Amino acid sequence: MDNKQSLLSDSKRILTGDRPTGKMHLGHYVGSLKNRVKLQDSYDQFVMIADVQALTDNFENPEKVRASIREVLLDYLAVGIDPTKTTILIQSMIPEIAELTVYYLNLVTLERVLRNPTVKDEIKQKRFEKSLPAGFAMYPVSQAADITIFNADLVPVGEDQVPMIEQTREIVRKFNSLYGDVFVEPEALVGEVKRLPGIDGNSKMGKSLGNAIYLSDSEEELKKKVMGMYTDPTRIHATDPGKVEGNPVFIYHDVFNPDKDEVEDLKDRYQKGTVGDVEVKEKLFVALNDFLKPIRERRKDFENNSEELNKILKVGTEKARNVAKETMQKVRKAMKIDYF
Ligand code: TRP
Repeated sequence: MDNKQSLLSDSKRILTGDRPTGKMHLGHYVGSLKNRVKLQDSYDQFVMIADVQALTDNFENPEKVRASIREVLLDYLAVGIDPTKTTILIQSMIPEIAELTVYYLNLVTLERVLRNPTVKDEIKQKRFEKSLPAGFAMYPVSQAADITIFNADLVPVGEDQVPMIEQTREIVRKFNSLYGDVFVEPEALVGEVKRLPGIDGNSKMGKSLGNAIYLSDSEEELKKKVMGMYTDPTRIHATDPGKVEGNPVFIYHDVFNPDKDEVEDLKDRYQKGTVGDVEVKEKLFVALNDFLKPIRERRKDFENNSEELNKILKVGTEKARNVAKETMQKVRKAMKIDYF
């Protein structure tokens, strides 16, 4: 695929984002944040705090969305997203995204939007079956505008977002075939660890599921969550042989414990019935706490500096808006609505 970005800069572009609806958790980290921290050196990276999208299912709760913008920004900075390398922006402050969404709505059918598996799941989860807000149903189209207005090549996201990128690619193909080559087809990039289970054993960690370990959890909160984690439900005594596969405690050990020998030893003894859950969990707590400690510290550095936080958002949003304006000029020209 030829890259239309190359005239502007040599590095390829990333666009990704999150709905500001609360704090971010370990699932977000393994799914997407980790890739963003890694790739910000080699890509021209834009990260969007998607408040417009958050309002599609929180329109009755604007205070929550507003307050969460700060939480999400702090989570970004805490994990090491560097505002001198990554442009961080607020979606609603870029009205060109809404404008592009309106044109994209002509290029998709209602049936196609409602067939999106992620949207389908969310409709069920949010009990929208009987009264589906039209704005919510259309959010994948708006997400296609988020991605393409920045002409992104790559979109680091959690596994659940892959259908969104697929739909974006379809819209790009349709747009380009009707109006000429304006956009590149973006690719999704999912983290090495595709999905982290919740502490309750649910296959997915989620805010709304109440089974998450947050990046901002204190040591005490972390300890309580880890010691109460779901393990192998069929194992009653420490002397019973236990199951390691699919056991959340061991999945977390594999992901977050850098001491691989310790993990192998624990697994071995767990399967033989010579280690108790408590020891396995205590060691997991240590590993997770070591992982979260520097994240908590960086968060603290920024937490009391509202001025700096505002500046990061303002500068990023301004820069992003200029890119969006440029793209919209190309779009208007291609669609023959560049009247004067
Ligand atoms: N839908 C994403 C989520 O729920 C958030 C998002 C909005 C996004 N716009 C985006 C992700 C553009 C990637 C690209 O987490």
